[in-house]
Amino acid sequence: MTDSRFQSDEWKIIETQFEPERGRDSESIFALGNGMMGQRANFEETYSGDTLPGTYVAGIYYPDKTVVGWWKNGYPEYFAKVPNAPSWSGIIVRIDGEELDLARCKVKSFRRELDMKEGVLTRTFTAMMPSGRIVDVRAKRFLSMSEPERAVIRYSMRITGGSGTAEITPWLSTDVHNEDANYDEKFWENESAIFLGTRAVVTAQTRKTAFVVATAMENTFYVNGKPAKSKPVLTVTDKTAHCSITSKYTDGDTLEVTKYVAVLSSFNHPVEGLAKKAMTVAGAAASEGFDAMLRDHIQVWAKKWEHGDIVIKGDIVAQQGIRFNIFQLNQTYTGDDPRLNIGPKGFTGEKYGGSTYWDTEAFVFPFYLSTADSHVARNLLLYRYKHLGKAIENAQKLGLTGGAALYPMVTMNGEECHNEWEITFEEIHRNGAIAYAIYNYIRHTGDQDYLTEYGLEVLIALSRFWAQRCNWSQEKNQYVILGVTGPNEYENNVHNNWYTNTLARWTLKYTSDSLAWLRSASEIKYNSVVARTHLDIQCELSLWKEIANNIYLPVHHDLGIFLQQDGFMDKVQQTVKDLDPAERPLNQHWSWDRILRSVFIKQADVLQGIYFFEDEFDEDTIRRNFDFYEPRCVHESSLSASIHSVLAARLHDTERAYTLYLRTARLDLDDYNMEVRDGLHITSMAGAWLAIVEGFGGMRIYNERVCFNPLIPAAWSSYSFIIRYRNNPLRVEVNGSAVNVVNLSQEAIPLEVYGERITLQPGEEKKFGKS
Ligand code: BGC
Repeated sequence: MTDSRFQSDEWKIIETQFEPERGRDSESIFALGNGMMGQRANFEETYSGDTLPGTYVAGIYYPDKTVVGWWKNGYPEYFAKVPNAPSWSGIIVRIDGEELDLARCKVKSFRRELDMKEGVLTRTFTAMMPSGRIVDVRAKRFLSMSEPERAVIRYSMRITGGSGTAEITPWLSTDVHNEDANYDEKFWENESAIFLGTRAVVTAQTRKTAFVVATAMENTFYVNGKPAKSKPVLTVTDKTAHCSITSKYTDGDTLEVTKYVAVLSSFNHPVEGLAKKAMTVAGAAASEGFDAMLRDHIQVWAKKWEHGDIVIKGDIVAQQGIRFNIFQLNQTYTGDDPRLNIGPKGFTGEKYGGSTYWDTEAFVFPFYLSTADSHVARNLLLYRYKHLGKAIENAQKLGLTGGAALYPMVTMNGEECHNEWEITFEEIHRNGAIAYAIYNYIRHTGDQDYLTEYGLEVLIALSRFWAQRCNWSQEKNQYVILGVTGPNEYENNVHNNWYTNTLARWTLKYTSDSLAWLRSASEIKYNSVVARTHLDIQCELSLWKEIANNIYLPVHHDLGIFLQQDGFMDKVQQTVKDLDPAERPLNQHWSWDRILRSVFIKQADVLQGIYFFEDEFDEDTIRRNFDFYEPRCVHESSLSASIHSVLAARLHDTERAYTLYLRTARLDLDDYNMEVRDGLHITSMAGAWLAIVEGFGGMRIYNERVCFNPLIPAAWSSYSFIIRYRNNPLRVEVNGSAVNVVNLSQEAIPLEVYGERITLQPGEEKKFGKS
């Protein structure tokens, strides 16, 4: 059971205390996004306490000059960061000249509620100002999912304790900075602000990359439910725009502003006329009105939930956890633009710069693949396809030739941003996850055309990389891959990381098999791929075959396990149980040198490989490896617990799978890693989905068939989820005694449940007794 700060609720995250020391944590937890922009849950009114203002716009980045102690050839010049963008959520409140600021008030009640079903954040509080005035505030906001360049805030306050004058001032500002700025530089320049009638707009341009963002507002003011009589006063400086209304109040009066915001960027529009266009969009939002906008927004969310909800009965904590994860993933990436991707923190903080990691292919990809239309996953693949040229350049920088590609560890536009040699140059397993995602996409969707048009070009470039990155060892009489870092970043510069070598072998084989398939399917298309990639069929294909058949994969024969890397058994063999809990997490207590020498594993490594290629291993092999590596894993990456949970479920250890599931699903809600203040772990959130659908549900795609082997945690009376196979939705309901599968589509779906094979006709439903 968890000890959560938040009330248990199936659809809501509810905070009932004002805890200034946890302010940043809550700003992350209650952050909103809509795929095109994001906003931390910063208070609308002025707040002089600790806060991390965060407004982000998708696709916009600043190349922050690299900081590094000891420069190495091959390091990138910059780290791309999604900058904190012009601020639009502020509303200054002055009552009789005194500014409302919760850090200076007596907060009598406070409640924040994130409604995940509707994508709406509501905050209510009662505060006594130093003057003794009491204000009851209700602030409601959403970032429109139906019109993703729009956001709206409705801010109402009731004043008691006397009469006087109140002033409400919605504002916009380009005067923002990033906490994460290597040289404390400003990321924005060429700032300006103008107003036209009742609308105002601020614009700013990123330095170096010259992206322009225009943020506009239009406001409507009400007093006691009627349009305010006094006229708003608009003022601008070169960085800010304010729209102020002053009103007399008497005891118990309610003043309200609805702030309609439009955020437009040159990522999606020409720079010419951008500011004007933003004002038009803000004006259109105001004409449409809060209620109509909210209706459309909720409808989009209703569709998302209809296609991707997971319902758990009997365990509200688990239910809340998975909905939080699904909600956040859908807020971060909506999948219509192949130029966008998913940063580890999404739009909830500055850490990781909003750039793309291997997290996308290895963890997040299956979520979108199964819960959204197949164009979404295809767009994620196209993102990498479009970066192929840069990945080839990247490999050239490292001395590889002939069209070999090394995708970056961290990127925004295809260029490498990471600058630690042991990761930038050595964590090359990311290439494998990119190949695996292509395979995963094709087996789920059946979209073989993708392979022909794009996928094979990427696979060939990746195979060329592996073929050059390995070398023949005279000593071992096999091919080896030296000097790498596996997913376990608590080991660097190791030789023959089993996971990396396995991926290399698999990629070489998959590329060759795919080429052979294409050759038999269409000679013309095959020839076109060969010509496009200048593939030397004789030499390259035979070399790939030779390497795949003769690559060294370290094993420990006595223990019957795969060895994480050469020399792993030379380490002092301990398990996590031997550690003093006071020394956890190790990365905050031990020197790096001690971590590197220790046996402790940051995140799934051999087990990550077993997870990917599970069908190649029998259950005993999986068990032996799990029993060896799991006790040595400290799960100090948010990505770790989910993969272990899936494997524990595969081994029918429901209890362990459940504990690991909760750790993943509630990582941020319960702040397991004590760092939610920096933002949410968006990419690891997909792991919670994997733990249910692939773990407890046992979903696999084998031989053109969707298979399930469900089990159910003791705490749950039932659970259900919807997945898409070949774009056809299927609902799976599991309880203690049976599994019910419903074909929600118009096409027949080949199915296997507990080994029983059937074809489920459109609309058909079938019950399977639990094995
Ligand atoms: C993990 C990496 C991951 C990165 C971003 C690190 O802690 O070890 O595997 O890519 O976080 O999520």
